[in-house]
Amino acid sequence: MQYKIALLRGDGIGPEIVDSAVEVLDKIAARFGHEFQYESYLIGGSAIDACGEPLPKETVEGCLASDSVLLGAVGGPKWDTLPGNLRPEKALLGIRAALGLFTNLRPAKLYHALREECPLRADIVERGFDMMIVRELTGGIYFGERGMRVGKYGEEAFDTECYSRMEIERIARVAFEAARKRRGNLISIDKANVLETSRLWRKVVHEIALEYSDVSCADMLVDNAAMQLVRNPAQFDVVVTSNMFGDILSDEASQITGSIGMLPSASLGEGTRGMYEPIHGSAPDIAGQNKANPIATILSAAMMLRYSFALADEADAIEQAVDRVLAAGWRTADLAHGGAPPLTTKEMTQKILAELGE
Ligand code: IPM
Ligand code: MG
Repeated sequence: MQYKIALLRGDGIGPEIVDSAVEVLDKIAARFGHEFQYESYLIGGSAIDACGEPLPKETVEGCLASDSVLLGAVGGPKWDTLPGNLRPEKALLGIRAALGLFTNLRPAKLYHALREECPLRADIVERGFDMMIVRELTGGIYFGERGMRVGKYGEEAFDTECYSRMEIERIARVAFEAARKRRGNLISIDKANVLETSRLWRKVVHEIALEYSDVSCADMLVDNAAMQLVRNPAQFDVVVTSNMFGDILSDEASQITGSIGMLPSASLGEGTRGMYEPIHGSAPDIAGQNKANPIATILSAAMMLRYSFALADEADAIEQAVDRVLAAGWRTADLAHGGAPPLTTKEMTQKILAELGE
């Protein structure tokens, strides 16, 4: 089969890790007889530098003309002082909205080989965990009305959280479907003891739950969820939550897997086109040094094969190759402590390629 993939390398370590994932995709193409055609587009700080805006029209059009999108990361200190609507991060929100990607799947599991890297107590590590965070991605406070004004005490700023029933219904359905395919357990996270948006969220989730009597569904307040993630992560199967809560909790979940360099993500809409990106950022401090862990991006490419192209065997092959490389003890700097010197980005990529066969 032939697929068109838009590459948004972005900033910082983005280019290095996307290149690693492309090598892995090429290996899959050769082994399974597919053809991946890549087209690169600018996004984030590199787009600001080249054409004065973080999300050029050509980038949006290019993504819309592709079967799927692979993104590295955006942002860096160079662009941190720009006004909000010109920041690299704005491009990320812009492309998510332009492609209608309201679902963000962020799987977090503890690899057997990475148990040593998990910062939690031994008995918690022993139980392991494997969860899927379903984050709403095109609504909430990220997209609400915001601004600056002069108030009672002078200068003030505001951001607003708004969720419609429709937005909650569609993300809830995605989460219930995901739970049905996994262990049949869904936890919906909100702040319904304070926020009106959360109260609507909870009401709508309960309504949708009636359509899924085979899935057990419970609510959890976000502050408690942050605590439960480090107290007893094994209790989570599928989690559904708002844009901002999902952003925060997925970083927390990534750290208990051993490193934020491990977590892939899939952003999906109504059709099969998706955008796939590691959940970590552009790590400007190690950019261009061949140090970054490429695994989150490589696993994001695997998610692309699984969710956008329905190539499950190919996705399994990548995930198993990563498993074997970790089981053999290979580590990039973010995962290594003591012992052998860590692998570079390129070396880690070569190890995974080698596991994918000649
Ligand atoms: C993420 C990132 C982004 C987000 C930023 C860079 C806008 O933190 O994908 O988790 O908050 O969605
Ligand atoms: Mg984040």
